Amino acid sequence: MYKILATSGNAKRAEFTTVHGTVQTPVFMNVGTVAAIKGAVATTDLQEIGTQIELSNTYHLHVRTGDKLIKELGGLHKFMNWDKPILTDSGGFQVFSLAGLRKIKEEGVTFQSHIDGHKIFMGPEESMQIQSNLGSTIAMAFDECAPAKADRNYVEKSVARTTRWLERCKKEMDRLNSLEDTVNPHQMLFGINQGAVYDDIRIEHAKRITEMDLDGYAVGGLAVGETHEEMYHVLDKVVPYLPKEKPTYLMGVGTPANILEAVDRGIDFFDCVYPSRNGRHGHVYTKFGKINLFNAKYEKDLAPIEEGCNCPACRNYSRAYIRHLLKAKEMLGMRLCVLHNLYFYNHLMTDIRGAIEAGNYKSFKDERLYLLKTYDK
Ligand code: GUN
Ligand code: ZN
Repeated sequence: MYKILATSGNAKRAEFTTVHGTVQTPVFMNVGTVAAIKGAVATTDLQEIGTQIELSNTYHLHVRTGDKLIKELGGLHKFMNWDKPILTDSGGFQVFSLAGLRKIKEEGVTFQSHIDGHKIFMGPEESMQIQSNLGSTIAMAFDECAPAKADRNYVEKSVARTTRWLERCKKEMDRLNSLEDTVNPHQMLFGINQGAVYDDIRIEHAKRITEMDLDGYAVGGLAVGETHEEMYHVLDKVVPYLPKEKPTYLMGVGTPANILEAVDRGIDFFDCVYPSRNGRHGHVYTKFGKINLFNAKYEKDLAPIEEGCNCPACRNYSRAYIRHLLKAKEMLGMRLCVLHNLYFYNHLMTDIRGAIEAGNYKSFKDERLYLLKTYDK
């Protein structure tokens, strides 16, 4: 159940209740593609850094270690010891990211495994079956994420097929949820809007999928080669055609600035590899932008990554020490940076929720955007 608690302009502050507990939105989902947050972050760490919901991937877990085994072991929640919500992405993004290793037809997509090259067929039914075996809280529709620069003719055909796939996803999810031995019989299904940078295709598609009365709606096919301005333009055009009384999710986005802008356009859910990937490379977030801890100027810096930050890294260690760990290639260096970055993203969302509740989201956004430009462009 989705309940709007406050609005400020187009920004929504809501509560989304699931069988695995309630999510306060806007929210940043912490990415654990293969049921692990990269950088040696355990699910037992997540409470401390403010994680509300974790995201895993259908394709990767199917290839290794296998969704059937995970079902046999009691489902993904039990497997990774995480009892809060999990959203699983459908494999649709791999249609984009593994472009050289796959073939698309009406029935679905044949992939060549990125691990050992063996053939894997995934269509809407297979994607739903895998996500059902995992028993995630929210399953994503199986879609084609087309590159932003795909030509209009291609995008028209691709979106029409994605709509047909969505009908098949819905039918299959209803069937799976009614089976006796289903891991999570209350599994929800979110649809995904596509249409690259073509406003009219996006809007037509948004109307079609809204008619299907799903549990939530994502905007996909963004952050795949278009500019930030093009992405904001698509959101300006398409979000008004998605139901306001359902959660909206901007897939794979983004920087703190992207999130601040997208919330202002009505988005509730986000996910992105940036905080964990950047953390693994010693790039850490502050209110004033990102800093690179490998930089020599932090060699003798006894300050925490960010003054006032209450994360496990900043509460206990200095920039100088973490820099030393990173240079020595000690895993602890990466881990501390990732913990800080995820804490930063999760608490950015806490601040965003507070500003919407206070009814001053616009001025909050402007101030945070201004501060973010202090170090990093
Ligand atoms: N992650 C980022 N973008 C997309 C998208 O368009 N589709 C899916 N399934 N996942 C995504
Ligand atoms: Zn910190």
